[in-house]
Amino acid sequence: MTVSVTWHGHATLSMDVSGTKVLIDPFFTDNPLCNVEADQVNAAFILITHGHGDHVGDAVSIAERCDSLVISNFEICSWMTAQGHEKVHAQHIGGGYQHPFGHVKLTLAFHGSALPDGSYGGMPAGFLLTVEGKKIYIAGDTALFSDMQLIGQAGLDLAVIPIGDNFTMGPDDAIQAVKFLNAKAVIPYHYNTWELIEQDVAAWAERVQSEGDTAVFGLKIDEPYTL
Ligand code: NI
Ligand code: MN
Repeated sequence: MTVSVTWHGHATLSMDVSGTKVLIDPFFTDNPLCNVEADQVNAAFILITHGHGDHVGDAVSIAERCDSLVISNFEICSWMTAQGHEKVHAQHIGGGYQHPFGHVKLTLAFHGSALPDGSYGGMPAGFLLTVEGKKIYIAGDTALFSDMQLIGQAGLDLAVIPIGDNFTMGPDDAIQAVKFLNAKAVIPYHYNTWELIEQDVAAWAERVQSEGDTAVFGLKIDEPYTL
């Protein structure tokens, strides 16, 4: 009964839930921070927050090779089906479902969601996961929003939030997000991939730890954080 979360650079995460492999936003190919090849990973489940290329990434090829169940919003699941991968489970914002590895609820995210070929990707999302009794919030690409306080009321063991600025909330708003979410631990992501979203993550981590009780993890790529 263990859960570990690993950041692979940008917004690419993998989760090991007592041996079951779950990928979130599997952007390996052309991810400047990533050391892992798309054809080296395995996934029983693939979760996709929104349609942008840096999140859909290698989802089609990995899902096909691994026969993964893809979990996302209705529009992205329909697009996956149109790409030839029919093993999908569509949900939508506010809706939760008990999957074999854990409960997945789609949460609000303030962002866009066009797919790589220009198709409409529906509303972008985050995920509130309940796995092995642990609550994990993965924000996806989003601005700061005050309803993060409601998500925090779930009693989070871990929150994964963007800090890169420009496309998502930046370091200052992410500090406020940490306060709203009140998680035991936070992993910052969606930064340093490109010059446009370069951030001093060590300075950000110090601010988080000086202003509250939330621990900061995942600052090293490919280093699993065990909950
Ligand atoms: Ni995006
Ligand atoms: Mn992005």
